[in-house]
Amino acid sequence: MTIQSLKLTNFRNITSAEIFPSAGVNLLVGENASGKTSILEAIYLLSMVRSFRSKKTKNLINHTADQFTVFANLNAGEANTYSLGIQRHQQAADTDILFRGQKPSGVAELTAALPVQLINPDAFRLLEGSPKDRRQFLDWGVFHVEPTFMHCWKRFQRALKQRNSLLRHGRIDELELQLWEKELAVNGEQITALRQAYLASLKPIFANLLDRFLGLQNFTLNFQRGWDKNVDLTESLFLSRVKDREQGFTQAGPQRADIRVAMNGYTAMDVLSRGQQKLVVSALKLAQGALLSEARNKQCVYLIDDLPAELDKQHRRIFCEVLEKQSGQVFITGVDAEALADGWQKPESISWFHVEHGQISLKPCPSTK
Ligand SMILES: Nc1ncnc2c1ncn2[C@@H]1O[C@H](COP(=O)(O)OP(=O)(O)O)[C@@H](O)[C@H]1O
Ligand SMILES: [Mg+2]
Repeated sequence: MTIQSLKLTNFRNITSAEIFPSAGVNLLVGENASGKTSILEAIYLLSMVRSFRSKKTKNLINHTADQFTVFANLNAGEANTYSLGIQRHQQAADTDILFRGQKPSGVAELTAALPVQLINPDAFRLLEGSPKDRRQFLDWGVFHVEPTFMHCWKRFQRALKQRNSLLRHGRIDELELQLWEKELAVNGEQITALRQAYLASLKPIFANLLDRFLGLQNFTLNFQRGWDKNVDLTESLFLSRVKDREQGFTQAGPQRADIRVAMNGYTAMDVLSRGQQKLVVSALKLAQGALLSEARNKQCVYLIDDLPAELDKQHRRIFCEVLEKQSGQVFITGVDAEALADGWQKPESISWFHVEHGQISLKPCPSTK
């Protein structure tokens, strides 16, 4: 899906703006605090119904207004156009969403329709953050590629909650515990199998991108499923009952899974420069988008906040080359127009936007000025 038009009203510092982005690369240039990241945030909101900067969507309402609206026309190929509108009122308990003229069944419906990959300074968390950050990354991919994942995930979460609540009770009903453990194990094994299969498909795409970005081949993505290698999940749950009871929660299982990103056996975080880390994280995210398009023929929207930061000219060029070849719509922000203009093979096919004090206007490409 690509964004054909995007209209923002009272969103952060943007009181009113409408843009018609290209289906390929879009560059947003402007001074600090002009509103560039806010535009990426609005696009992210359309997919996730939350911000990547603040916990409360209410914070996105312009300080002088009492509600914001983000409205987009999405193109699903050929003549299929869908409308998507999200509105948040200061006094309302929740966000109002209209997708194709109706209230969607849930956020997952929007996320599935408009897959978004964000590459911003927080993306480093994929390497330096907690296992939860890496699980979220992994599950984003599995969710989009494997339709049965969501169902297993919900059942697993419910069973986990039930088991944890039983563990905290004084007297435990053995039969009930057994039932929930069975449900946990069946869905947990299934989630793990889907995660493993997904990673196996992702690895060669990631390796290829990393080779182009950094000329590095000795990278490994090691999946840790979250419990003892030598036993199945049913047995692991049974064996850890006493310990889990003491702690009051289930300690092992897919809820503890992780991916170790390593180079020559060393954890990536410990041996790579900041610029290299940015490229590794970007390669992981771009690989997810490429796999989605390969496996499901779905296009991803990439949001790249401050592309030039941390990258030298040579690596910026390789990055641009990869982005131009990758299918999917791209939005890139930057402060310096010259740094953003450099490195594109087909600069004439790129759309430029100038962002200034919350106003967005089409901008002539600097190299053709
Ligand atoms: N709810 C809001 N209402 C009005 N202005 C806001 C709101 N939230 C953030 N801002 C301001 O919007 C400006 C643009 O922020 P941002 O999009 O991060 O800029 P950029 O990415 O271009 O540096 C900042 O000055 C910020 O303080
Ligand atoms: Mg910014």
